[in-house]
Amino acid sequence: MSVDARAVLLKHYDENSDLFRLLWLHSEKVAAKAADCIARRGLKVDGEFVREAALLHDIGVFRCHAPGIFCSGRLPYICHGTEGRRLLEECGLPRHALVCERHTGAGLSLADIERQGLPLPHRDMLPVTEEEKLICYADKFFSKSGDPAREKTLYEVRRSMAKFGEESLARFDEMHSRFG
Ligand SMILES: [Fe+2]
Repeated sequence: MSVDARAVLLKHYDENSDLFRLLWLHSEKVAAKAADCIARRGLKVDGEFVREAALLHDIGVFRCHAPGIFCSGRLPYICHGTEGRRLLEECGLPRHALVCERHTGAGLSLADIERQGLPLPHRDMLPVTEEEKLICYADKFFSKSGDPAREKTLYEVRRSMAKFGEESLARFDEMHSRFG
């Protein structure tokens, strides 16, 4: 059964807000990038699910504190994935919910969370399915700050992954070898 992602987002966002305009632009960019990867690489994935989950992957941002991108919530920004999971599970969308939790960085391992002292539950948050990996990958090419419409270069994405350590970069490179 297909999901109206825009309608799900609008349960939490004002359609005429700067935040929703930014979120929708970003999410459509990620969905389009993922669709392009599917077409170019002939990926055997559930394309309809990928589109829906790509449009929903950042639903949790409004609960976080990131005034530069119009988010006036209280949680640290890193929590937008787990918040997204919670919100989508409440909507009865557990498969989409896991995409939210598993899309930050190149995924977060339990070791990453512990080592960096991140304010997150202590469990692996690595993308597992092809669909989860593809959305995580596509998301890395678009920022919500700066120019949200511009696709980053591979060099820029790899440089930002490297900041989170060798393992993050290796996970990104593995996704790039399949989807890029
Ligand atoms: Fe995103």
